[in-house]
Amino acid sequence: MGEVLRVNNLWKVFGRPKFRFDPDEPGALEKLEALGVVAAVRDVSLSLQRGEFFVVMGLSGSGKSTFIRCLLRLVEPTAGAVFVDGQEVTALNRRELTEFRREKVGMVFQHYGLLPHKTVLENAAFGLKLKGVDKKTRLERAEEALVQVGLQDWLHHYPSQLSGGMQQRVGIARALAKDPAILLMDEPFSGLDPLIRREMQDELLRLQEQQRRTVLFVTHDLDEALRLGDRMAVMRSGRFVQVAEPAEVLANPADDYVARFVEGARRALGAAAANGRRPEAGAPAAAGMADGTAGGRADGTAGGRADGTAGGRADGTADGTAGGRADGTADGTAGGRADRTAGETAAGTPAGNAGDAAPAGAKGEVKQRGAL
Ligand SMILES: Nc1ncnc2c1ncn2[C@@H]1O[C@H](COP(=O)(O)OP(=O)(O)OP(=O)(O)O)[C@@H](O)[C@H]1O
Ligand SMILES: [Mg+2]
Repeated sequence: MGEVLRVNNLWKVFGRPKFRFDPDEPGALEKLEALGVVAAVRDVSLSLQRGEFFVVMGLSGSGKSTFIRCLLRLVEPTAGAVFVDGQEVTALNRRELTEFRREKVGMVFQHYGLLPHKTVLENAAFGLKLKGVDKKTRLERAEEALVQVGLQDWLHHYPSQLSGGMQQRVGIARALAKDPAILLMDEPFSGLDPLIRREMQDELLRLQEQQRRTVLFVTHDLDEALRLGDRMAVMRSGRFVQVAEPAEVLANPADDYVARFVEGARRALGAAAANGRRPEAGAPAAAGMADGTAGGRADGTAGGRADGTAGGRADGTADGTAGGRADGTADGTAGGRADRTAGETAAGTPAGNAGDAAPAGAKGEVKQRGAL
């Protein structure tokens, strides 16, 4: 085994407080909140072993994307430490960070982040190009990865000729081709219709069976988490409220919040058992949202989230392409839509370096959330 990822007491506070945030100082969080800043990740710690498939599940706004982005500093953590393969990511300088992202991490987002003017094969090879791998080798490895995701017949097509599910496979192949120490996936299947989503989950399970990669997978869908995860975290208001194996979460939910989520899953599982089939992906989460347990979203404040656009806007991929609108340039600069959020800009994070991933946050709108 061996530890691949360690996260120690990670915090992300958006907006710029007028004082240095020290999470150990009594009352520090209250002081921050009085200023109206958002603590999106709160004191999260985690250790992942090699070959483990770990799922972070939580409702919209619970902090999942912020958390996963903090791991490669697409969002700069406010406090805490991240180690990947023993390397302290939070201590790297810009140059080291760029190299770390190219070498060690594969990232897959909800929006595929493919380059429209490049073929499927070239897209899959792109991360390796940034790594400096020679052309012959990178095309070979990209093709191998594309075979693994079932796209061997589409190598010379362009992304626009592919369905959403197929485009997402290209994104996965691109990440796999790099053979990263850790694969980070942020709602990779959320944009897909339920049947395709299910297929993609099966595909990922099959790949995992063969390759035993270390994966951190984010979803708001409990059923997806239960299907895929060796272990999972339930995230609420920036905290991991339960970390356990899926069966344990179902059997012993840590608190009422988790219990309400699980209730929906149990109903779906029960109904499926009664019908002699497995539940459809998405059913439990939908139940959870519908019955008013949506902690993160419960405030319903105006100007909350224009959800259709979130995520689609310039999710930078770890290998330096600008995603979302897929208009990143080949040298890895973030694309036209990689709008920096006010929070991140204020925090003074340097703009995306060439060859670096797209800037943090990557969501045009500054979001508000009242009830935490
Ligand atoms: N760049 C930003 N500036 C200010 N606040 C932000 C920024 N990004 C996220 N937030 C806030 O941080 C909290 C967590 O957001 P995040 O996007 O991490 O949630 P999520 O769990 O990924 O949600 P979803 O399921 O909708 O993707 C939210 O309250 C959000 O409004
Ligand atoms: Mg998200």
